[in-house]
Amino acid sequence: MKKGRILTGDRPTGKLHLGHYVGSLENRVRLQDEYDPFIIIADVQALTTNFEKPEALKRDVHQVAEDYLAVGLDPEKATIFVQSLVPEIAELTIFYSMFITVNVLRHNPTIKTEAKQYGYQDMTYGFLGYPVSQAADITFCKANLVPVGADQVPHIEFARKIVRRFNELYKPVLVEPEALVGEVGRLVGTDGNAKMSKSLGNCIYLCDEPKEVEQKICAAITDPARMRRDDLGHPDVCTVYAYHKVFNPGFVEELRPQCETAGIGCVDCKKRLTAEINALLEPMHERRAKYVAKPKLVDEILIAGTERARAAARETMAQVREAMQIDYF
Ligand code: TRP
Repeated sequence: MKKGRILTGDRPTGKLHLGHYVGSLENRVRLQDEYDPFIIIADVQALTTNFEKPEALKRDVHQVAEDYLAVGLDPEKATIFVQSLVPEIAELTIFYSMFITVNVLRHNPTIKTEAKQYGYQDMTYGFLGYPVSQAADITFCKANLVPVGADQVPHIEFARKIVRRFNELYKPVLVEPEALVGEVGRLVGTDGNAKMSKSLGNCIYLCDEPKEVEQKICAAITDPARMRRDDLGHPDVCTVYAYHKVFNPGFVEELRPQCETAGIGCVDCKKRLTAEINALLEPMHERRAKYVAKPKLVDEILIAGTERARAAARETMAQVREAMQIDYF
């Protein structure tokens, strides 16, 4: 017996990176035997900010699917699908939007932060409403667990509120989801910025070749007070140390005193980290090669996954319509 259903996913806006891996992908792969995972490639949500450049979507949907398969999501176990191809999600979004007020959305902390980040004076209806659409993503398949990065938690809270409201207004047909945040929470960027993010150009991508990883770590910010080999280090302000904690945890106990006494130099410390990260990425490269050689295979996986998602969606929609008394004939 499976423990329940997972729903989670990403906006297709480019290559996935190590921040995605520790925040959510690792949990998805780990849980795919115990749970029944639904993984959404949220192309409509990507349009909330990228509606002017839809030409990137086709490539990015494919890229994200390939990253999922490379990381070890097994298409036999995980239902990987495309949001826009499940029209029931759009339908559910409309129904939810009848009882969600504009002010609640305006005060959503993630919407506020992102609107500021994008410099929106005004914002589109779709952007303001994307938490509603995300609640539809989560609930159409009655997911009970949502593995996500820390920044997504307000959206899961919001989905829970929608479920409670719907169940109390109509009939208890929807399931309240719970967020599962990766242990690491948020991964720092190679430039020392608090967040690894494509727009900041501080990412190590899952598809980066060993040489690229080496170069990026070589250029990563360390302790700014440690200019020379024999200066004493301060691991708590060092990006490379932060990465060792995540990707090489067995080494940190030994590393800390060595760094603090200048026993180890930054170059050696970076070499150790590079080896660890490349070892993590190596099996991903191997899996990816199989799909790069057969791009049609990725399409077939998405088509089959979307079929499965729609079957679940149709079931839920029949119950939703009945609960809302819009099952006329
Ligand atoms: N908002 C998520 C992100 O930007 C992507 C997403 C869309 C999602 N629908 C979802 C995540 C449903 C979890 C559950 O990364």
